[in-house]
Amino acid sequence: MKILMVASECAPVAKVGGLGDVVHGLSRELHQRGHDVAVILPKYDCMRYDHIWDLAISYENLWVPWNGGVINCTIWFGHVDGLASYFIEPHAEEQFFNRGTYYGFWDDAHRFGFFSRAALEFMLKANLRPDIIHTHDWQTALIPVMLYEIYESLGLDRQRVCHTIHNFKHQGTTGRDLLYATGLHRADYFGDVHCMGDDFTPGAINHTKGAITYANFVTTVSPKHAFEARHSDQGYGLGHTLYRFQDKFGGILNGLDYDTWNPMTDPYLRVHYDRDTLERKSDNKQALRERLMLQQVYKPMVAYVGRLDTQKGVHLIRHALFRTLEMGGQFVLLGAASERGINDDFWHLKNDLNDNPDCHLEIGFDEALAHQIYAGVDLFVVPSLFEPCGLTQMIALRYGTVPVVRQVGGLADTVFDWNHSDLPLSKRNGFVFEEASFAGLESALDRGIALWKQDPHGFQMLMQAGMRYDYSWRLPVEHYLNIYRYIRC
Ligand code: ADP
Ligand code: GLC
Repeated sequence: MKILMVASECAPVAKVGGLGDVVHGLSRELHQRGHDVAVILPKYDCMRYDHIWDLAISYENLWVPWNGGVINCTIWFGHVDGLASYFIEPHAEEQFFNRGTYYGFWDDAHRFGFFSRAALEFMLKANLRPDIIHTHDWQTALIPVMLYEIYESLGLDRQRVCHTIHNFKHQGTTGRDLLYATGLHRADYFGDVHCMGDDFTPGAINHTKGAITYANFVTTVSPKHAFEARHSDQGYGLGHTLYRFQDKFGGILNGLDYDTWNPMTDPYLRVHYDRDTLERKSDNKQALRERLMLQQVYKPMVAYVGRLDTQKGVHLIRHALFRTLEMGGQFVLLGAASERGINDDFWHLKNDLNDNPDCHLEIGFDEALAHQIYAGVDLFVVPSLFEPCGLTQMIALRYGTVPVVRQVGGLADTVFDWNHSDLPLSKRNGFVFEEASFAGLESALDRGIALWKQDPHGFQMLMQAGMRYDYSWRLPVEHYLNIYRYIRC
């Protein structure tokens, strides 16, 4: 099958969070199974160009209609980890993708609306005729709408769209002027049958709602979250739209790229290990302590790696740090915040704890350090308020690190409590709590630290149980292929 992934991120070249991992991992698995896969990304100035092979111009003078005029684009082509990848470079006054960072600009809706239109224009002009266009999150959610109104009649009439929602909190809500800029004109986008109007902001359009309405199939990234999105406030206002289109909506658990995340081959680790040589993991703990200048003592190490966002339960992450120190452990945090207030809070916390030899806070994005943390620590906290899937708990499991998670979304689908799960002991792989409160967090974290201290054998069983799980793309890709085949008929 011929599949085109259109997204705003793809690891390792352009990654802010799990979206980048998923676009990369899913594409690679499809490619390895013999499908003809390519990825289309914006050409950001801040990408990791060292990860792109043979980057060269593939198409010049692609004139993309925009805002009543046209913008000239150059399309670049290269390979990322063996994956065919196109990069769209607009020569626009606005410098859409030359701003030093990926998101967070007042005109993000226009930047990615333009990117979506350019991706379709490129498919048309370069005669790429994929069977499936797989779009991701609000940034590319207008693609199925534009396909319907503009490109079907121009010749892209056999293409089918699968849209994946990675995060319902970000829906690309924006003014109607964007519709006109992209070339969408139908009055009934706000009517009853075809609807894209935002439910909370009168007159505004909602990109994600557009994709739910016009894509041939819509997924989110875990079965539990598919339920939560429809039946709780976690759908951020889209519950009834999902209900209306329930016949073409489902949850597929993300996979992990088991080549990127492999403690036996990971180039960032001092020592490689697997389930049978787990004792070697402690050398990575020592290496991590050396790198972060933590004292070398017999203590459990707990970590958090991830975006510092309200979604992730920042107050609970902070509490996990203090609780771990109180219980005689060490804590490592690696994260970046896009909100000013949260960023300032964590910088203050870092400064306050500067002299503490039992904890380290690293504010920023650091791929190598992330790998070293997963491999070096004993316990890993993910106390999210909501979590569509979550990859960090799965990475922790892969590295024999025991996750402590809140029972929500994909965390609930992947981590099973050591004491309270109804699964057999050999299948229990972490610690789970329900209530998003300090007491809730402590009810799981305390048990994890206590098990590490009091029952090393039990703790090792738990580590091994986690490593036995297969959270690779092997199974999820089957589900996606079923959807692709279904919507092609
Ligand atoms: P989300 O997509 O909501 O941010 P996920 O758990 O799905 O969360 O994926 C997060 C991914 O981003 C993981 O691969 C994680 O290791 C990585 N990551 C997040 N923050 C950082 C950081 N500051 N430095 C390095 N890697 C990070
Ligand atoms: C989102 C979600 C996260 C998910 C990731 C990849 O950013 O917050 O839960 O794992 O996308 O799908």
